[in-house]
Amino acid sequence: MTDRVTIADAAVRALRQRAFDEAIGLLEPEFAANGGDCVLARLLGMAYFGSGDADKARPLLQKAVESGQRNGETCLCLSLSCENPADAISAAFMGLSAEPANADLHARALQSMAVFPFEARSSLLDRWTECFASDTSRSSAINRLAELLGDHTHRVAILRLAARQMVEAGWTEDAVRAFHHSCEPLGSATFDPSLLRDKFAALSDDYDEDFWSGETARQFCGFIEESISFSPDWAALDAGCGTGLVGEWLAPRVTRLDGIDLSADMLSQARTKGIYETLAEGDITGEMEKPGRRASYHLVVCNWCLFYIPDLSDFFRAASAALMPGGRLVLSVYPCLDDSDVMRKEAEAEFTHSRRYLRALAKENGLEEERVEIRLLCAHPGFYAVFVKPAS
Ligand SMILES: C[S@@+](CC[C@H](N)C(=O)[O-])C[C@H]1O[C@@H](n2cnc3c(N)ncnc32)[C@H](O)[C@@H]1O
Repeated sequence: MTDRVTIADAAVRALRQRAFDEAIGLLEPEFAANGGDCVLARLLGMAYFGSGDADKARPLLQKAVESGQRNGETCLCLSLSCENPADAISAAFMGLSAEPANADLHARALQSMAVFPFEARSSLLDRWTECFASDTSRSSAINRLAELLGDHTHRVAILRLAARQMVEAGWTEDAVRAFHHSCEPLGSATFDPSLLRDKFAALSDDYDEDFWSGETARQFCGFIEESISFSPDWAALDAGCGTGLVGEWLAPRVTRLDGIDLSADMLSQARTKGIYETLAEGDITGEMEKPGRRASYHLVVCNWCLFYIPDLSDFFRAASAALMPGGRLVLSVYPCLDDSDVMRKEAEAEFTHSRRYLRALAKENGLEEERVEIRLLCAHPGFYAVFVKPAS
């Protein structure tokens, strides 16, 4: 008995020092002599797991867990050594139930999300939220999660999923915080919008059938409907109109609808709908500033397009110029916190903008804020805003 205790203590010390081969050397002969011992099974399983031998670790950890050795660490190692996702998920949840307040364990379970199907990842995040995000502490819980995730491979995916679940749960400010942590500082990133021509040439044929295209346009139209009282004599401009998903909803509510987009292929889809009076191919800023559009519109809308443009100063100047007094600009952007004006959403250059930044540009260009809200934009949180050009 004394030998077993001494060996187990020495093995625990070796495991702490990540000396896995040493722990295996100590434990194997003792386990061979005491095959039914669940403490030895757990330690040997952990040692094999640490040494990278999941096949040897799995039955030992399984035996330990089945005999009641259900601490978080053991269950997490068992989860990570399982081949079958269903077994991996149930072991992970067993660990989180055993130690619900162990933030590090939660973060590590989340980091292993590649082995879990989508629903299981969502449940892991729900579990984390239940344990750490009370109404008063959600923002610090999100900061902590971001800190624990460090630069882990799944950092962005976990924070984005958390952000999406939080918008859906109505915790919109927290959703923006989680999304902010998933983005990078702008640095010297710039983007040439002409690169989008190829991207949208490839997407245009099936664009309207894509779930997120339809859903994102639907969200935006819902926001306009709640924000604006239309008058049938209005002229409206759809900036970055794409195939005209928003235009289809707008057209029956106004007397004239124009569209601008830089993608000839998206525009040719829009043209087939017969809802636009004019469709111009070009950059939204340059097109909106053309003298013929000056003070011409009661409404300028721009949905799910500005995330391609890091610096929105020219856009705001041009949109304000195109509005007539009393006219409104309605837009959607991916969000970041006010600590930054603009952040980078993706390596391939998509951008997010803060409320402070949008408000400052609106003010500089003589527009007043009427409404800014957080809603789902594609699968992320988004800022939806209405700015009005005061009637002079
Ligand atoms: C994701 S789609 C959204 C289309 C549409 N607004 C909707 O809600 O369905 C983005 C569109 O913006 C256009 N776009 C992006 N940057 C642009 C720019 N600087 N000038 C004109 N169009 C632009 C793209 O060509 C693409 O058609």
